[in-house]
Amino acid sequence: MKYRSFGKLGITRSAFGIGCMRFPMITNENGEKVVDEELAIRIIRTAIDKGVNYIDTAYVYSEGKNETVVGKALADGYRERTAVATKLPTWNCKTPEDLPRLFEEQCRALGTSYIDFYLVHALNGESWDKMCSLGIKEFLDSLKASGRIKYACFSFHDGYDAFERILNDYDWDMCQIQYNYMDINNQAGTKGLELAGKKGIPVVIMEGLLGGKLANAPDNVQELFDAFPIKRSPVEWAFRWLCNHTEVGTVLSGVTSMEQLEDNLRIFDTVESGLMSSEELELIDKVREAYESRTKVGCTGCKYCMPCPNGVEIPRIFSIWNDICKFNGTYKDNARYKRLVSSGNDATKCIECAACESVCPQNISIIQMLKNAHNDFTG
Ligand SMILES: NC(=O)c1ccc[n+]([C@@H]2O[C@H](COP(=O)([O-])OP(=O)(O)OC[C@H]3O[C@@H](n4cnc5c(N)ncnc54)[C@H](OP(=O)(O)O)[C@@H]3O)[C@@H](O)[C@H]2O)c1
Repeated sequence: MKYRSFGKLGITRSAFGIGCMRFPMITNENGEKVVDEELAIRIIRTAIDKGVNYIDTAYVYSEGKNETVVGKALADGYRERTAVATKLPTWNCKTPEDLPRLFEEQCRALGTSYIDFYLVHALNGESWDKMCSLGIKEFLDSLKASGRIKYACFSFHDGYDAFERILNDYDWDMCQIQYNYMDINNQAGTKGLELAGKKGIPVVIMEGLLGGKLANAPDNVQELFDAFPIKRSPVEWAFRWLCNHTEVGTVLSGVTSMEQLEDNLRIFDTVESGLMSSEELELIDKVREAYESRTKVGCTGCKYCMPCPNGVEIPRIFSIWNDICKFNGTYKDNARYKRLVSSGNDATKCIECAACESVCPQNISIIQMLKNAHNDFTG
């Protein structure tokens, strides 16, 4: 296992961290989908035995049961061998008293008296303002002073401007961002990664494989990988590209089988910063373009078309449609589109008033494209 610098903290952590959000699931005797505890615990313990020393969980994962499973995995001496990161659920924070109550609940579930990396979960501009009004800065200061947490951190899902504001608004010890070779200009993006690096704030990566989407290359992407003289799997290319950035600390990945764990342990045994050749970096640029070329509709998500007078979620429908096509997904029974159907915001609600088309800066034939999208989703 390679270990990577955590900037101003002056410590190192394993290049690979286990992201527990995607624990393996099984169906129990009542027909319910539940965490496969035995396998999840085996994955965490094997990872620690092989040198992983960063385990990431959160209050909300696995419908609130994730921390308890992680706690079981960390019994029998495993807690002392790894750092634990967990996250304060901002959604559940309504009053200042909720903050210490949730923290104590999390420590109990994890079976630990302290948390190494305590993150304010999934911050965006709005939730940061709310958390400030509830006294989050003072709360984090007091947890650090009493030794209940080692590091005060946040995870982030919003645009760059919000990232810069939040990063500069508190003396953070670490931040966690969604980053991979497709997201260089999305959310915090490369600009955010570099800003954190300049400030010496370590960056932990989530969604390095875009939740697994980059593991299964469509034909036009696989052809590029196959034609390159160095042979690597799409997963290995994605992880190597991330670790080529010096600012990247630990890369989290959720694994759902022992085979995936072994594969990732092998890859993270040899990752390095700054050693990818210009040819390798050009390959990744071409791969990104090849994914982008699969886009169905050139919607940039500017939302000039919104709100639709009849409630059609136009940019969201196009984003789901593009995602499926780009990443080899299946249209039929798509959960994200089904949610829009249930809430009455799907493409069939279009009454063809064309208010959207008159303001679309990309001149998209929105009415026709919505029909095409719906046809794909309903097969
Ligand atoms: N703070 C936040 O707001 C937030 C948000 C998202 C994630 N996170 C954290 O970050 C962690 C990492 O994100 P992520 O789980 O989305 O990471 P990811 O690496 O983008 O995706 C993980 C998925 O990739 C696939 N995979 C992993 N290794 C593989 C391999 N060797 N070969 C083939 N497929 C492989 C698996 O998908 P299949 O099971 O489908 O094969 C796995 O579930 C999460 O687990 C969570 O702890 C935090």
